[in-house]
Amino acid sequence: MSKQEKIKQLKKEKDAIILAHYYVDEEVQNVADYIGDSFYLAKVANQTDAKAIVFAGVEFMGESAKILNPEKRVFMPDSFADCPMAHMVTIKEIKEMREKYDDLAVVCYINSTAEIKTYADVCVTSANAVKIVKNLPQKNIFFVPDQNLGDFVRQQVPEKNIMTNHGHCPRHTNISLDDLLKAKEKYPDAKVAVHPECQSGVVNAADYVGSTSGIIQFVTNSEDMEFIIGTVDGVFAKIHELAPQKILHTVIDHQICPNMKKVTLDKIIDVLENETNEVLLDNDFMKKAFKPLEKMLELAK
Ligand code: 13P
Ligand code: SF4
Repeated sequence: MSKQEKIKQLKKEKDAIILAHYYVDEEVQNVADYIGDSFYLAKVANQTDAKAIVFAGVEFMGESAKILNPEKRVFMPDSFADCPMAHMVTIKEIKEMREKYDDLAVVCYINSTAEIKTYADVCVTSANAVKIVKNLPQKNIFFVPDQNLGDFVRQQVPEKNIMTNHGHCPRHTNISLDDLLKAKEKYPDAKVAVHPECQSGVVNAADYVGSTSGIIQFVTNSEDMEFIIGTVDGVFAKIHELAPQKILHTVIDHQICPNMKKVTLDKIIDVLENETNEVLLDNDFMKKAFKPLEKMLELAK
């Protein structure tokens, strides 16, 4: 029996679904029931009837799926697959800002630990951050932990006083404006699509800025044929499937997220078979972290 067949059989036996982020390997995406960006996957996790969820992604995604669905069992194929940015803000920084401003909303990128979420007013993803921040009643916003996404939101919502801390995604920050300008010189006819986790210089030089799903839609729906993509290479698989005629270039070679790459078919088989690496969180803690996630789902509608 192939690994793919084995996974199919185990999913049926355990009444499990597999959710996969676009940054995991193509062969992992191919065994998933749902593939998407962080926002889409959070919505699926919130609505599924399956008994168990295997999250082919990083820790904050599995935690969010569990918090949105405390009665379901959530398993991570690799318990060390974590997003470094999720740890790049401290509770102390949030408390200090709350003391400084009466009228403050703490807006927490979903790429954050469950503990940080318990101190936030609302969560956002790259697909809905602008919309949600625009519609918050507070003027002062502490946007954590991604400074680059916070900078992008500030540009789009100038009427708010948006403050950020110094977190960043190591993968997206690695894409420099210099590299992008070189790629543009090499491929002068290509349109540029980048993720808002990139630095502001890169974002400002792009034709399109959006989440991984947004980038995929932009490229597949565009009448243009050639694109420079400023995000993790994992999005290429979906674009090749939906629009095989499009020509894609990376800004820099080997643009991968090493943590997302930790997810393999063997590890998925292992957690399905042995029910290991289950996400377990304290109930009171989950209740607190549920509020900002629930608010995100409500405000993003
Ligand atoms: P999206 O899934 O919102 O595009 O974010 C990308 C990312 O870095 C996830 O970790
Ligand atoms: Fe975290 Fe960046 Fe990897 Fe996304 S791509 S999981 S933000 S390290």
